[in-house]
Amino acid sequence: MAKKVYVGMSADLLHPGHLNIINEARKLGDVIVGLLTDKAIASYKRLPYLTYEQRRAIIESIKGVEKVVPQETLDYVPNLKKIKPDFVVHGDDWKTGVQKEVRQSVIDALKEWGGELVEIPYTKGISSTLLHEEMHKIGTTSEIRRKRLRRLLSSKELVRIMEAHNGLTGLIVEEAKITEGGVTKEFDGMWLSSLTDSTAKGKPDIEYVDFTSRMNTLHDIFEITTKPIIFDGDTGGITEHFVFMVKTLERLGVSAVIIEDKIGLKKNSLYGTDVEQTQDSIENFSDKISSGKKSLITEDFMIFARIESLILKKGMEDALARAKAYIDAGADGIMIHSREKDGSEIKRFCEAYKAFDKKVPLAVVPTTFCQIDEKQLKQWGVNIVIYANHLLRSAYPAMVKTAQSILKNERAFECEEQCMPIKDILSLIPGGSL
Ligand code: SPV
Ligand code: MG
Repeated sequence: MAKKVYVGMSADLLHPGHLNIINEARKLGDVIVGLLTDKAIASYKRLPYLTYEQRRAIIESIKGVEKVVPQETLDYVPNLKKIKPDFVVHGDDWKTGVQKEVRQSVIDALKEWGGELVEIPYTKGISSTLLHEEMHKIGTTSEIRRKRLRRLLSSKELVRIMEAHNGLTGLIVEEAKITEGGVTKEFDGMWLSSLTDSTAKGKPDIEYVDFTSRMNTLHDIFEITTKPIIFDGDTGGITEHFVFMVKTLERLGVSAVIIEDKIGLKKNSLYGTDVEQTQDSIENFSDKISSGKKSLITEDFMIFARIESLILKKGMEDALARAKAYIDAGADGIMIHSREKDGSEIKRFCEAYKAFDKKVPLAVVPTTFCQIDEKQLKQWGVNIVIYANHLLRSAYPAMVKTAQSILKNERAFECEEQCMPIKDILSLIPGGSL
């Protein structure tokens, strides 16, 4: 009987290195590819470009691949215990870094039935990371970008979103990355905040910065990024206008719009009841949501209903009743907002929400309750965390400090240290370096 050879891979951007491994594996027996699911990949790095189904279709048609099975975790052991292969074949690049422990657990598991790990010298000069960088320069399409939020929601427990209000901040959200304990963390997408877009233009957050102007910001960000975008649609305007907003955003490649259930002159939620704000009726807002849904062409675009009951001190019962009604009206997601500092109000909402029969992804904006971390939000059942204003709020004090230093010293020498070198700022922008 032919020997069983197991090869685990993500196979997002297929290159000769992958083919080399499969060819070497073929020499040992029948090749079973354990194809990492989106969830498994998202547990330690960025979501792949291609979906699991697309990647499977490619791998299945490669000569020498007998069978493709899903590998649901980065850990090979569950699949290995089921399949009990005679060999596991892998590139020798996993002896260090994130995969080091995974490798050891493979060796330990194989011992149980006398299997063997075969390591193939790593193909130099080409890697998924390098291809990834090249792809990044090319950019993305509206379709791919739009679908990405739904893919993220189905592969990650908590989707991490950061605000962007111009091209430069879009670039920061796109590129910011840290690696800790072998896990690479980055933002999954962008929040096109009405507050930061308005503030950056020196305007109040009262829907005065109109849709055309917001579109200009969006285009600047689109041009140089690939990550999904959630658009802050304010109140969505009147229903007759909202349907056009939805069509436009969907066509351009935005993944979701969030509209809040307020009516009349909208003011920023973080004012709470310090200013006069009117909540919409459940009927009217539900009608706005269902009209928006009817105007969609794809199944990718999502409409989130944002509930302002806690902001406006209308009570938890009202917030929960609205969540139910908006879901029934077709909302693809709920955003619950609060400005209470301890976060207990949001926690209570989340606990009650968990018991709903019909649930959709839940988003929160921890601006006032910023001490609550992502681990806690996951426990509460939150699916999307939006850091709604932090890039702008951190940039402004830095700029004021520079302006004051120049005034005080009557020269720029003293503030030079806190400024980015000119050489660096020139090469920051794609196409900007020499
Ligand atoms: C925004 O960022 O514009 C928001 C969130 O709508 S909040 O400012 O908290 O209302
Ligand atoms: Mg807003």
